[in-house]
Amino acid sequence: MLFRNAYIENAKEVCDFRIEEGIFKEFGSLTPKEGEEVIDLNHKLVLPPFIESHVHLDTCLTAGDPVWNMSGTLFEGIECWSKRKEKLNKEDIKERVNRVARMYAANGIQFIRTHVDVTDPTLMAMETMIELREELKDFVEIQIVAFPQEGILSYPNGKQLMIDAVNMGADAVGAIPHYEFTREYSVESLNFALKLAADNNKLVDVHCDEIDDEASRGLETVAARALEYELFDKVTASHTTAMHSYNNAYVLRLMRLLKMSKINFVSNPLVNTHLQGRVDTYPKRRGVTRVKELLAEGINVSFGHDDIYDPWYPMGNGNLRDVVFLGLHVTQLMGYEDIMNSYNFITNNAAKTLHIQDHYGLEVNKPASFVVLDAENYYDALNYNSPVLFSYRNGKKLAEATPLNRTVLF
Ligand code: FE2
Repeated sequence: MLFRNAYIENAKEVCDFRIEEGIFKEFGSLTPKEGEEVIDLNHKLVLPPFIESHVHLDTCLTAGDPVWNMSGTLFEGIECWSKRKEKLNKEDIKERVNRVARMYAANGIQFIRTHVDVTDPTLMAMETMIELREELKDFVEIQIVAFPQEGILSYPNGKQLMIDAVNMGADAVGAIPHYEFTREYSVESLNFALKLAADNNKLVDVHCDEIDDEASRGLETVAARALEYELFDKVTASHTTAMHSYNNAYVLRLMRLLKMSKINFVSNPLVNTHLQGRVDTYPKRRGVTRVKELLAEGINVSFGHDDIYDPWYPMGNGNLRDVVFLGLHVTQLMGYEDIMNSYNFITNNAAKTLHIQDHYGLEVNKPASFVVLDAENYYDALNYNSPVLFSYRNGKKLAEATPLNRTVLF
């Protein structure tokens, strides 16, 4: 199959590409073979598929059930969720995840890293998500993080639940240092989680310092263990919102360790601008980590949605465009090149976070997975909220949309 006249990743010149048996075969100025199907992309933007690098699929689409989060804080969200957890069952999770996976598919997302709550003696959500990972694999690759929502040391039998989740088939080990009862528990939980990952050859993704407390310093422990256990870029620190409030002298020291450790960062701008700063009067902190400064040091950062219509975030439609749009504003990455290249937060940077570069990207001999946007470059796509016209995965069309058509009657 030959696709013609595409602007690939903001290129200035159009390019054609050929796919055969679900694989990219050729890029360049190509002529159709006899009898070959030809699709004219008509000067549209082609990008690698979008990647959701941080979400909680097990909690999605549950906002207000049974109660709404009235304070808008992370901690009330955790209380609301512990009430919803009582009526959680397999069918309920499967129905909601199937719905949200299709919302994502319509927006060109083909890879999802989900955090699954394992502070549940039955590990039912983990078991269900492992089944869903298999059931949905033809249209989305799901990566599962064993996420101890209520702590590892601060929840009964927390360590064993983490070990059990890894043995069941979790892809990555999580932690939540800022929620542990004490600073000592926080450090011990991270030592435990990263050792568990190192011993079992797993990835790591920590909910790290998701709090406005400048004294929350789980990040330095994550980075130090990543370095010492030689896990390096297999490790991701998600949120790191306390870094927003750290003093600059401390950040200067910390940056050296972060660079040495090679860890990834995930920022969730929609959810953290909503959840953080809730105990501030004015000025109110933005609650987003230092994305611009991390990038300037050559550290990898991706953006995630985090929550879709659940106790922590009452909105969300599975469109990562909104995440990038707000993310650029709140981190003040609004230069021309910043905006043009910002698709990397939900494509190539996220691929590094998920460690999927071996089968991801617009390159010969890689799976023919890509999205086509109704724009010539990402600046316009972002600004005009252009729909994903096509989403192809392994050479198969998964989703399509028609361009927005509005008429002004004057
Ligand atoms: Fe999260």
